[in-house]
Amino acid sequence: MSHVLSAVAWPYANGPRHIGHVSGFGVPSDVFSRYMRMAGHNVLMVSGTDEHGTPILVEAEKEGVTPRELADRYNRVIVEDLAALGLSYDLFTRTTTRNHYIVAQELFKVVHRNGYMIEKTTHGAISPSTGRTLPDRYIEGTCPICGYNGARGDQCDNCGNQLDPQDLINPRSRINGETPEFVETKHFFLDLPALAEQLGEWLRSREGWRPNVLKFSLNLLDDIRPRAMTRDIDWGIPVPLPGWEDNPNKRLYVWFDAVIGYLSASIEWGRRTGNDWHAWWNEAARSYYFMGKDNITFHSQIWPAELLAYNADPGDYGTLALPTEVVSSEYLTVEGRKFSSSRRVVIYVRDFLERYGPDALRFYIAVAGPETTDTDFTWSEFLRRNNDELVAGWGNLVNRSLALTSKNFGQVPAVGPLTDADKELLAEVKGAFKTVGELIEAHRQKAAITEAMRVVGAANKYLSDQAPWKIKDDPERLGTILHTVLQAINDCNTLLTPFLPHASQKIHNLLGGTGVKAPMPQIVEVSDLDGGPGYPILTGDYVSEASVWESTPITVGTPIAPPTPVFKKLDPSIVDDELARLSS
Ligand code: MF3
Ligand code: ZN
Repeated sequence: MSHVLSAVAWPYANGPRHIGHVSGFGVPSDVFSRYMRMAGHNVLMVSGTDEHGTPILVEAEKEGVTPRELADRYNRVIVEDLAALGLSYDLFTRTTTRNHYIVAQELFKVVHRNGYMIEKTTHGAISPSTGRTLPDRYIEGTCPICGYNGARGDQCDNCGNQLDPQDLINPRSRINGETPEFVETKHFFLDLPALAEQLGEWLRSREGWRPNVLKFSLNLLDDIRPRAMTRDIDWGIPVPLPGWEDNPNKRLYVWFDAVIGYLSASIEWGRRTGNDWHAWWNEAARSYYFMGKDNITFHSQIWPAELLAYNADPGDYGTLALPTEVVSSEYLTVEGRKFSSSRRVVIYVRDFLERYGPDALRFYIAVAGPETTDTDFTWSEFLRRNNDELVAGWGNLVNRSLALTSKNFGQVPAVGPLTDADKELLAEVKGAFKTVGELIEAHRQKAAITEAMRVVGAANKYLSDQAPWKIKDDPERLGTILHTVLQAINDCNTLLTPFLPHASQKIHNLLGGTGVKAPMPQIVEVSDLDGGPGYPILTGDYVSEASVWESTPITVGTPIAPPTPVFKKLDPSIVDDELARLSS
């Protein structure tokens, strides 16, 4: 048993999240965390909304509200959506808490004191027509690395490289198209070249990473330059140094503070619950960071560099462990197109959940999500997976078996002598705990759920082969078959709990189980620990006796009532309805 930190990427609070977002960071991190808890590990799963930087400013301006109002609004929307999806955060907080400001400033100060923040005079963009500073994200141009024409001043979404606005070829303002003027301005740069050797050593000692992620991360070392960690912007965390602190137009770079959220959220959780967060941040702990691939740079270079620079001579928090693994998924597209909220090529989590429920989405993402390659979501494939696999495969097995049991016995029947077929099925189900568990632990969730569903298929085949509905006057054999299949269902339900927690709880109850099979997150309104405004958090108690990764025997005599369906068969007309919504 070990301490496992599940560090989940922080969604920007600049709008509701779509299914592409939760297929990257959300569902994979929850499946992993739920499994690891069931397997007996001590999991701490943290995240929150990312509320600084230009993404928030741009949208606030568009909606005509302050950045704070915008962040408050979408923090709440996101909290509600992630709760409805059943994501089991120990703490989902936000980057505008006082605690986060304190921790981010402390890291900056120590990194600066250790000599890894270099002050440099550079060129910042201003708009010639207004004289106002133009934030990086407001500048667009051609990427000097890959030639993509829509690169932004902070990052190229095509090749994933970080950029400075001056790097862009033919830079132009996204507000009015004019060519920005570059004027002198001072900033603090994280001295990445000074950390390159240590970063390389750390990366080369990583085991089991997805090859794409490791290769991309190692490549970043080839062109390593100091990166600005402050910005000319008036929304964000003040730079905690004399002469800077009170300057309202200088703030910490949003990515400098956002990655620190993993630490500040762990500390906040410790303060709220009375637990010692250090146990998840020392070398003995394991830490897994979940995200979409546009976030890799920040987790395999910037965050480890911040930690190394801090650890050179650590402050109050002591030595902090670097990530065990950066677990990144690839992109999800929708019906062959990139998600785009502005062009309304988007499926919001909320809309999806209202129409189809959380487990249908979780199932699709687990079985057909962008785990290691870019993947297209289509409504026809969603329909097929839902109807043919979830409903006709798993749902039907549960339904048929429980209906037969309730009709013939009204309770879990006693078991007579076992045939080879009975023993074979039971052995197959038992064996799956090791295979499925190891696959989830290795972040191969597609293979894991496919294996679990293969066992479901074996149980379905067993039921068809044994055809208990044909047995007329051998109650002992009939009872043995139903007992065997109910045992298989009970265990398959455990195997599927990390993926389908809502269904799993229902099936557990249908089988007469007691206790909480799949604990759910709660939204709790809390006050800020350090005197700031209150906010909603996600938290929960996720360790339960009924939620353990092992085969558990069903009890003869447990009453079994006629079942109600667990999954919903969808009408094929939803495909056209959804396609019409998507393009309207
Ligand atoms: N807000 C970023 C995004 O949506 C992710 C931040 S992850 C962090 O791409 F925790 F590192 F900040
Ligand atoms: Zn590029």
